[in-house]
Amino acid sequence: MRLQTIAIHTGVDKDSSYNSVITPIYQTSTFRFDDVGMNKGYDYTRTANPTRKALEENIAALEGGLSAKAVATGMAATTTALHFLHTGDHLICTNDCYGGTERVLRTYGEIFGFQTTYVNMADLDAVRSAIRENTKGFWIETPSNPLLNIIDIRELAAIAHEHHALAFVDNTFLTPYNQRPFDLGADVIIHSTTKYLNGHSDVVGGAVVVNRPELVDRLQRIVNTIGVGQSPFDSWLVLRGIKTLVPRMKMHEENAHAVADFLDQHPQVRRVYYPGLSSHPGHELAKRQQRGFGGMVSFEVKGGIENVNIVLRSTKIFTLAESLGGIESLICHPLTMTHASMSHELREKAGINERIIRLSVGIEDVNDLIEDLDQALNL
Ligand SMILES: Cc1ncc(COP(=O)(O)O)c(C=O)c1O
Repeated sequence: MRLQTIAIHTGVDKDSSYNSVITPIYQTSTFRFDDVGMNKGYDYTRTANPTRKALEENIAALEGGLSAKAVATGMAATTTALHFLHTGDHLICTNDCYGGTERVLRTYGEIFGFQTTYVNMADLDAVRSAIRENTKGFWIETPSNPLLNIIDIRELAAIAHEHHALAFVDNTFLTPYNQRPFDLGADVIIHSTTKYLNGHSDVVGGAVVVNRPELVDRLQRIVNTIGVGQSPFDSWLVLRGIKTLVPRMKMHEENAHAVADFLDQHPQVRRVYYPGLSSHPGHELAKRQQRGFGGMVSFEVKGGIENVNIVLRSTKIFTLAESLGGIESLICHPLTMTHASMSHELREKAGINERIIRLSVGIEDVNDLIEDLDQALNL
C-alpha cells in the first residue's frame, strides 16, 4: 500500500464486537480478565490500549519501521528514546536542535551524567572529531528548527554505525510523507505528533519508532515502565488527523513555497530560510533526501528588534503562538518563544538571532496569507 492508503487504513480495524469502521475510543484504564491468566491481549492502559495500538501500528507503517509507541508529547518521545542510552554515554547533537531537546539533554546530563557535544552536523569532519570512546548516539534533526538547515541523514547514520552508535532522527518537520529516515539508515525516529501528524493544533503527542529488532521489546518496556503512553482519546485524535496527512502536507508545501518566494522579493526582508529556494545552502541535499520541502519558513526583517515586533504584532491571519504544523498559520519569535530555554551560548553558535521570525504556513488561501504578511511588513 502507498502512504495515503496506509494513513487511512493501517491499524484502524480494532472493533470485532460491532465492526465499527472507525477505531473506537477505548476510554478505559483497565480490562476485564476472562479467567485467571486469560485476557484479550490488554490488561491495563499504561501498558497497552487498543486505540493507542491502532495509532502505533499506523505510525510504524507510515515510517516503515518495526514498531512504534505513541506517547504523551514530543518531549516524552525524546525522553523515551534517550532511555536507549546509559549513564555516562556520549551523544552528538546537531547544534540547532529544538530548544526543548537541548533542555532535556542538559537536564539528563545533570541527573544521569549524559554527555552531549553540539556540532554543526553539516560539517562531517566536525562530527567525526566530536566522536569519543563512549559515543552511543547521534541526534539528528533535519530540517532544523528554526533555521531549516539540512543535514545528510545517510552520511551521519553511516558514521554513527561505524562507531556502533544509534542514529536518532527527529522527523517532526517533514513527516514520513516528505522524509523517510529509515531508508537512509536511521535506527530510531521520534515525532512530536502535536505538529503535522495530528495537524489540527488540538492535541499534544509524540511517537517513537524503531527499526531494529533488539529495540522493539526495550521500547515497550521503557514506555510501560516510565508511564508515558498517550491517552486513548488523544491517540484517537492523532489517528484521525493522520488520515489527511498527505493532502495537508501537499497544501502546506504549496503555500509555504509561495510565501517564501514572496518574502524573498520583499524590500523589508533581509533573508529567507526555506530549503525550497535554490539560494538555500541545503537546497540540493533537500532535493535528494526529501520528497518535498515542507511547510516551515523563517525569515529576517530589515532593521532592529522594533521592526521584528511590529511584524509579530500586526499579522491578522498568522497567529502569534508557539508550535507548528497545524492547518492554521502561526507566526513565532524563536528567540523569545520556542528557543527561550536554549542556552545563550548554543543559540549564538547555532545562529539564532533576534531578527528571525518563524512561520508555520497553514492551508488557508495563500493570497490571504501573502496579503497578511505584506501589510505587516509595510507598516
Ligand atoms: C522538532 C521538534 N521536536 C520535538 C518537539 C517537542 O514536541 P512537544 O511540544 O509535542 O513536546 C518540538 C516542539 O516544538 C519540535 O519542534
